[in-house]
Amino acid sequence: MDHIAMRVNGAEVRVAVDPRTSLLDLLRETLHLTGTKKGCDQGACGACTVLADGERILSCLALAVQYAGREITTVEGLAGPDGPHPLQRAFIEHDGFQCGYCTPGHLCSAVAMAAEAARGVPSYVTTDLTADRIVLDRDEIRERMSGNLCRCGAHNGIVAAIAETYAAAQGEGA
Ligand code: FES
Ligand code: FES
Repeated sequence: MDHIAMRVNGAEVRVAVDPRTSLLDLLRETLHLTGTKKGCDQGACGACTVLADGERILSCLALAVQYAGREITTVEGLAGPDGPHPLQRAFIEHDGFQCGYCTPGHLCSAVAMAAEAARGVPSYVTTDLTADRIVLDRDEIRERMSGNLCRCGAHNGIVAAIAETYAAAQGEGA
């Protein structure tokens, strides 16, 4: 067993972990943060998406020991002192889920995705590669969120929720 320390949702965590343990299993089985979901466990569905120092990662493909010393944020850490994250509110308003199994991954992924766009990181559908800031229209959102699958087919509501949240932040119409 290795002993590692990391910050999870703002709290220092020290745990003994088998070096073969995925970050997903550490979060769910050891830290009991079961908001992060295990869908495929092989990097295909996005249900396990969490943030590592603000970047989205698939925690099923990440060894926990690789993230020693890092800041991990799960869906349980998205809400602020004023309540749910604006994106969480928008998911409710736009019916962005049915069973909710994919929702934590979608939320974490979208938070990091919006930050990527704000930094000018292009996607496959970005036409102006010189832009400092990329407007998150629906094509950009659909492309950038294509690694997160919803088996219930709530993608229209999911895209609408993301568009409303981040188009408003960008000062654009959705
Ligand atoms: S559970 Fe990690 S991508 Fe599906
Ligand atoms: S809401 Fe059921 S998988 Fe997305």
